[in-house]
Amino acid sequence: MSTSVSDGVALLEMRDIGKSFPGVRALEGVHLSVRAGQVHALLGENGAGKSTLIKILSGAYAKDQGQIFFEGRPVEIHSPHDAQMLGISTIYQEFNLANNLTVAENIFLGHLPRRGGIVDWKTARARSQAILDTLGATFSVDAPVSSLSIAGQQLVEIAKSLNRKTRVLIMDEPSALLGDKDLEHLFKVVHSLQAQGIGLIYISHRLKEIFEVADEVTVLKDGRYVATRNVSDVSMDELVKLMIGRDLKDVYPERRVDPGEVLLDVKGLSQPRLVRDVSFQLRAGEIVGFAGIVGSGRTELARAIFGADRHSGTMEISGKPFNPKSPIDAINRGMAFVTEDRKSQGLFLQLSVKINTTISSLKRLCRFGIIQAAKERALVLNLIRNLAIKTPSPEFQVVNMSGGNQQKVVLARWLSLGTRIFILDEPTRGVDVGSKSEIYQIMDRLTHEGAGIIMISSELPEILGMSDRIMVMRQGKLVKELSNSEASEEVIMSFCSYVSA
Ligand SMILES: Nc1ncnc2c1ncn2[C@@H]1O[C@H](COP(=O)(O)OP(=O)(O)O)[C@@H](O)[C@H]1O
Ligand SMILES: [Mg+2]
Repeated sequence: MSTSVSDGVALLEMRDIGKSFPGVRALEGVHLSVRAGQVHALLGENGAGKSTLIKILSGAYAKDQGQIFFEGRPVEIHSPHDAQMLGISTIYQEFNLANNLTVAENIFLGHLPRRGGIVDWKTARARSQAILDTLGATFSVDAPVSSLSIAGQQLVEIAKSLNRKTRVLIMDEPSALLGDKDLEHLFKVVHSLQAQGIGLIYISHRLKEIFEVADEVTVLKDGRYVATRNVSDVSMDELVKLMIGRDLKDVYPERRVDPGEVLLDVKGLSQPRLVRDVSFQLRAGEIVGFAGIVGSGRTELARAIFGADRHSGTMEISGKPFNPKSPIDAINRGMAFVTEDRKSQGLFLQLSVKINTTISSLKRLCRFGIIQAAKERALVLNLIRNLAIKTPSPEFQVVNMSGGNQQKVVLARWLSLGTRIFILDEPTRGVDVGSKSEIYQIMDRLTHEGAGIIMISSELPEILGMSDRIMVMRQGKLVKELSNSEASEEVIMSFCSYVSA
């Protein structure tokens, strides 16, 4: 059975691949094929089995089942060396570079050209330069790799594989760490490799990219093969459905809101740099979405409310004056601020889920200075269950978790503090669709339990899908309040960008 939807012998084909780890069936019945000059995307949520599949291809893992064909011939890949001999190169999520060596040294690592027994640096540097030129890299071949940006290091990885014979290039989530501009450059590089006849396997859990970069896409879910489609024949909605097993509209919970008492009352709030005279109320049970373009002052407003920046104006929490001098004041009054940058907001990546979720409530768990281990464990297990945090155990290191699950750990920590006012700044950025949906469920549940949520988001579908009321900000001012029923993407956009006379 051929799994390619197009004609022509596949450069590489994997058939009916299976792989188990102790206690986990990571792959079962998976097919994947790529032709020369094609970009084949491998799409699936975290844990779908994408990395395991390509580690089999690159000789890092042994398959338990299935066959691999190279140009129609059956092949066995028992080691990274076998893969290399076939011209299969892989760029992993964690780069494999010697940071203290130069760019050229890395590109030629292990096989420097020699002349009469002496390393021929002139040739090595010139060849490195030539390859980097084709990739549009602007850094020097003599620069130490440690001095390069992530995007730069990625180009060195690509150059390294081009310097060997590469027929198939596999990239595991190459976009995960890149900003928009670097991503655009990466797409250009991908297209130029494609033009050289290299077959590319491009792994991602982001749908938008698939449409920008790939010809064909194979979807995995829970270790199983779901489907292969031509990108030109498939819609975004259809891919979401294949990937998460349900419709995009079902990603958002159906909101039934009965707003309670006023939790937060903001009157005439200004912040010296950007925010001008903002007034609004947040009630128990509500999600208020803040829409606006970058630089409209939403994050600055949130920081001022949270006591992170100086402000003028007045605020009340549950009817009592609230004048935070620092975030500590806000936290003590039951307020949380969750930013999109999970690393900088105090997740201890090397530490366990347990420590990360309870660190803020350790005081309450201590009696006579001793942590009550049983109480702590009960609290953590409860949070893990309530928030559907996917972790093998409370002792699991946070660094090994997906973005969505890290975000849940952040929320769990605030919940363990009894927070009632949540400010969520881009709560699902960098999170895959399935985890997004789970975070939305958590937000919905929080409001049913009496919390109020201020959600800043640049994704209009998210604003529309989650907000009971929508505040549009422009140039530091609140320019429009819309109820969910009167809002649409067009209406919101018109207020975001309207320039007043
Ligand atoms: N070395 C390993 N040992 C045990 N389980 C693993 C190992 N590598 C991956 N898994 C498990 O296999 C499944 C697929 O993981 P992975 O291939 O990393 O998914 P993806 O790359 O799509 O996020 C997950 O359940 C994961 O926990
Ligand atoms: Mg992976």
